[in-house]
Amino acid sequence: MKLSVIGCGYLGAVHAAAMASIGHEVVGIDVDARKIEVLSKGEAPFFEPGLPEILSEGIASGRLTFTTDMAAASGAKVHFIGVGTPQQKDGYAADLTYVNAAVDGLLPYLSPGDIVAGKSTVPVGTAAELAVRVEATGATLVWNPEFLREGFAVQDTIDPDRLVVGVSGDGADGAAEVLREVYAPAVAKGTPFIVTDLATAELVKVAANAFLATKISFINAMAEIAEVTGADVTQLADAIGHDVRIGRRFLGAGIGFGGGCLPKDIRAFSARAEELGRGESVAFLREVDEINLRRRDRAVQLVVDGLGGSAFNKKIAVLGAAFKPHSDDIRDSPALDVAVRLHGLGARVTVTDPAAIDNARRVHPQLTYEASRDETIRDADAVILVTEWDEYRRDLTPEHASSLTGGRLVVDGRNGLDAAAWRAAGWRYHGMGRP
Ligand code: UDX
Repeated sequence: MKLSVIGCGYLGAVHAAAMASIGHEVVGIDVDARKIEVLSKGEAPFFEPGLPEILSEGIASGRLTFTTDMAAASGAKVHFIGVGTPQQKDGYAADLTYVNAAVDGLLPYLSPGDIVAGKSTVPVGTAAELAVRVEATGATLVWNPEFLREGFAVQDTIDPDRLVVGVSGDGADGAAEVLREVYAPAVAKGTPFIVTDLATAELVKVAANAFLATKISFINAMAEIAEVTGADVTQLADAIGHDVRIGRRFLGAGIGFGGGCLPKDIRAFSARAEELGRGESVAFLREVDEINLRRRDRAVQLVVDGLGGSAFNKKIAVLGAAFKPHSDDIRDSPALDVAVRLHGLGARVTVTDPAAIDNARRVHPQLTYEASRDETIRDADAVILVTEWDEYRRDLTPEHASSLTGGRLVVDGRNGLDAAAWRAAGWRYHGMGRP
């Protein structure tokens, strides 16, 4: 099928390449000429495992093209909207500027019978408003939320755990059938395909992210209790996680969640609920947010306390800058936030990361960056693990770290290290919510 994808960021670029990889003819459109130039060469403008491969395959096959010209959307049967919906600068609500611009820019190129499929995460009610404009052209609007995780985006797009398509009123059933064809390989595998109204589809996405954020903050709240009782939150998580109703995933206590989705999505959800007069229904999301942010303070405090009450002029090795491993995304990264706070306390902070240094340097040039993990650790007074890349969590042994520095303080912001091994090697180990 001929498809267009408007917006070629983390969501759109992956979607365009993934759709080409399953056999569609896809044009990706973005206003950012530099991004389009990179993508057109079959290169990924950001770090995402598997993306360079499907991009270059798609370009080589001729099925995948990128352009800044919206007119290229003409003739596509389905137009996916994958632009960003960041948090507004002066509030918690989502900024819909890019979604509105994408849809309005697309309108002149729509033909009757076309389908516009929104993928961006939007406040509930947005799709119904957009539908009026889209349907005036004879095209149909559906909402098809995206649940991809950065780091696993290619796999999550080609082989999602569910597909959700929200459709409006009469005659829109045909649109759901077209989406079923778009996702034919996943549908053939028996992937659940759920057809809803527009509002439900919009809400599915924010509800899923709100639940995930709540799960992480729940275990981080237990970490806070563990810290004053001497309990171990990782054992607690293992034990409650065996209950299949609870499950162990997303019970990783540490410095909490960040990234381009969970933080802004729970805030936008709160803001929208307030507008709808139901602020109290999701008032708990404020607590979820606050618990999450408190964990960054806790990590900083553990370093300062471990250094005897002051980080001033101490060399601190910060392992990780990305908001999570397998990503170069530093949007709302707890890791980088901890590094910046330590820098603000007068510490000599050196940050390393396998993928995110360039992005981090652009936003926080005041920090020192070092590509080599070992050079980062060399002569450090304290080491803090804040992004659980395998290079730090699995591959770094305490014996090796001991050969690089005489400092013997390690703070494990992700509870990813073997506490017993580090202690046995003579290190003072502090985890999050662990004795
Ligand atoms: C999230 C959702 O998972 C995805 O479905 C949605 O489409 C977009 O938002 P993503 O932002 O890529 O995906 O990251 P995710 O893997 O959910 O992690 C979010 C944050 O939570 C990271 O900072 C991660 O380190 C943190 N996290 C995750 C924890 O602190 N503990 C955990 O147990 C799991």
